Amino acid sequence: MSEPQPIHLSDYRPPAYRVTHTELTFDLDPSATRVKARLHVERHPEREAGEPLELDGEQLALKAIAIDGQPLGDDEYALTEQGLRIERAPERFLLDTEVEIAPEANTALEGLYQSGGMFCTQCEAEGFRRITFYPDRPDVMATFSTTVIGRLDREPVLLSNGNPVERGELPNGRHFVTWEDPHPKPCYLFALVAGDLEKVEDRFTTMSGREVTLQIWVEEENLGKTDHAMASLKRAMRWDEETYGREYDLDLFMIVAVNDFNMGAMENKGLNIFNSAAVLTHPHTATDAAFQRVEGIVAHEYFHNWSGNRVTCRDWFQLSLKEGFTVFRDQTFSADTNSAPVKRIEDVSFFRTAQFAEDAGPTAHPVRPDHYIEIGNFYTLTIYEKGAEIVRMLRNLVGWEAFRRGSDLYFSRFDGQAVTIEDFVACMAEASGQDLDQFMRWYSQAGTPEIDAHGEYDYANGAYRLLLRQRTPATPGQPDKAPQHIPIRLGLVGTKSGRDLRLTLDGESLGTDGVIHLREEEQEFVFTDVEEAPVPSLARGFSAPVKLNFPYSREDLAFLQTHDSDGFNRWDAGQRLALLALDDLIAAHRNGVEKVMDPRVVEAFRELLKRETDDKAVLAEMLTLPSEAYIAEQQPLVDVDAIHAARQFVKQSLAMALRDDFLRVYQENVGDAPYAPEPEQIAARSLKNVALSYLVSIEDEEGIELARRQFEADHNMTDVRAALTLLVHSSRDELADPALRTFGEKWAHDPLVMDQWFSVQVSRPQSDALERVKFLMDHPAFSLTNPNKVRALIGAFAQNRVNFHRLDGEGYRLLADVVIELNRLNPEIASRLVTPLTRWRRFDETRQELMKGELERIREEKLSPNVYEVIEKALA
Ligand code: ARG
Ligand code: ZN
Repeated sequence: MSEPQPIHLSDYRPPAYRVTHTELTFDLDPSATRVKARLHVERHPEREAGEPLELDGEQLALKAIAIDGQPLGDDEYALTEQGLRIERAPERFLLDTEVEIAPEANTALEGLYQSGGMFCTQCEAEGFRRITFYPDRPDVMATFSTTVIGRLDREPVLLSNGNPVERGELPNGRHFVTWEDPHPKPCYLFALVAGDLEKVEDRFTTMSGREVTLQIWVEEENLGKTDHAMASLKRAMRWDEETYGREYDLDLFMIVAVNDFNMGAMENKGLNIFNSAAVLTHPHTATDAAFQRVEGIVAHEYFHNWSGNRVTCRDWFQLSLKEGFTVFRDQTFSADTNSAPVKRIEDVSFFRTAQFAEDAGPTAHPVRPDHYIEIGNFYTLTIYEKGAEIVRMLRNLVGWEAFRRGSDLYFSRFDGQAVTIEDFVACMAEASGQDLDQFMRWYSQAGTPEIDAHGEYDYANGAYRLLLRQRTPATPGQPDKAPQHIPIRLGLVGTKSGRDLRLTLDGESLGTDGVIHLREEEQEFVFTDVEEAPVPSLARGFSAPVKLNFPYSREDLAFLQTHDSDGFNRWDAGQRLALLALDDLIAAHRNGVEKVMDPRVVEAFRELLKRETDDKAVLAEMLTLPSEAYIAEQQPLVDVDAIHAARQFVKQSLAMALRDDFLRVYQENVGDAPYAPEPEQIAARSLKNVALSYLVSIEDEEGIELARRQFEADHNMTDVRAALTLLVHSSRDELADPALRTFGEKWAHDPLVMDQWFSVQVSRPQSDALERVKFLMDHPAFSLTNPNKVRALIGAFAQNRVNFHRLDGEGYRLLADVVIELNRLNPEIASRLVTPLTRWRRFDETRQELMKGELERIREEKLSPNVYEVIEKALA
């Protein structure tokens, strides 16, 4: 087999033929499903006559083929590894094919597959070609009519996109339902579900007064776990009407929960398919974080109905067109429904840890890549989250009102079309009258811009000079970078008054919280009439996805932590302060000298704990130390052990110094109100559990006892899991082991809870974590073919920094072994799982060699395009 070849954006051409209507009939069977397709095909007006018709198709057994009812002879078409080619096709014709596929053998979970006993599909990006021969590209949009035939006993429920128009019984215990989707769509939005499912139903009246039926389909035992998803769906529908003027456009909206799913969920028209982990919740089985994740994903998929479905992508290079915009939409929705500052803090801390790492690694790519081998590898933090940051910058640049006008223009101008990122940005430029040419570089240039900032207060003239220098490091294939247009929202906080000072730039007033635009490599901004010496508060709210360095003193940071008017930057100042202290301790650990805790950090925390606050959610974030992964991101070379030891030392020092305060905070936040996933309760729980984590870190007897009681009280999963994690991650195995056993037995029947049980154990810092992983891989609840299980056990272990990076290389070896097996079973999951190994350049030489050795061992295998692409980049 030849090496997989890259596809280039610059090679884009419209398809030679388009499909205007697609009729499908599925005769379901686990090992031999028959798929009949009738495609209404016509030549694309922009392409010449006489070109061959090329259809994608993989792993399909062709049984029949005809054009306009005439069966084709063997010499009238050609089958290749990638599909089917018809050299001479008429201008306009009906193409009939029949193929056979085996859903039960489909472990890749792309195309039509079985999850438990049910049939379901995942077609984005290129799964439809595993269902039937088709131009599997998003710029081919057709209306669909789909008939699903199944067994009455095994598949009483037969679903597809759109509206059911006919149903009936057939001989031999079979029945059928025909669905019609009137909205032209690319085939990646096709969906089919068949199985023994139950539904929960509700209704929604749209802003124009249309009645929509809402259904959530689940296996019977999960009927009690859909309330939150349903409530979230209705909130999202209302929000999109109120915020973007977008109304739902079918009479029926369905969500189905399936256990085996590669990603979170999929926005198929009218029939969203969800990983059960992204839809099912119950106070006793799901944590607050899971409740919030469900709300966010339900909204995300719903929002795609406009940003993705009504207006879709011309080609897969434009993926961020729908994903970046939709993530931005779901982030703002969640911010509106919950604590906005905490949502921003969570999103940014995740972004700066994981997306920055991606941008700094061998798979770094622009938000709009210009080539790829396997599009399945590009469902990344860069496409999604950095894409969302770009849309957020756009919103801030043009202002909400122009942004909304631009969005209206985009949806009306391109309704029913497959378009590009330029089309989207052009609407924003048109609606705002702004020049966004330089801004477009955010889409084409990979890597995280770094800004070095310096400031100087000129006492004599009352001026503040801010010098900014930007630089984007080289990334694979992009050695030289041009300067970006970087909006920096900032304030100058007076050191005497503690207030935001007025900002005057070039004689123009920016208020007390303004935006400056860095466009050059180096730019100086001189603020005049600055009446006292300030500390600058820069990139407020993370106004651009950049690294911003400023030589803050620890006193400056402690000052900002209490005085900055921007909640996000107050939190960020605390993080920066902690990082400075951690730096010293990491160095001390490496040099084998005694670690000394910086008293300024202790005082800053004492301040926080003392202050009366009405924003407990933010306080909980402020009391949370930067994660080991984030600390690692700041280090030139990652020393996992030193980072772990330093962070542990800071945590324990704080716990010892402030033990009574943590205890008080814990006690003040214990509540016994019935569980509700509401902001106030969530805030109290997270504050309480952060406090408890400090107490347990020093094995304070009272703290341990509180954790034990919290676990036993069994009030809700958030508290139970927090307590269980603390016990399991402490060295008190005499308490942890029975707790784990109780939990494991109680929840043996619930796969989503067992996922948590796996993760809690394999993320413990003790040196037996690896042995536990191996042991648990044989547990009856584990399965290598279920992506959630792989993530919960193997994925979670690979995030366990001290143990994954063991110096004997056993952690790496285990991961590589699993990647090798999954390369055969589920390439998409395999290529994601291998990520931590691809970051080998960040570690010491010994670890580099070990990690590289495992990558090389993987390369010996017969690789899927997914894993091939990632391994080649990692070893390049
Ligand atoms: N469009 C889906 C979403 O963002 C994700 C689909 C991912 N598909 C894939 N093959 N990775 O909600
Ligand atoms: Zn999406």
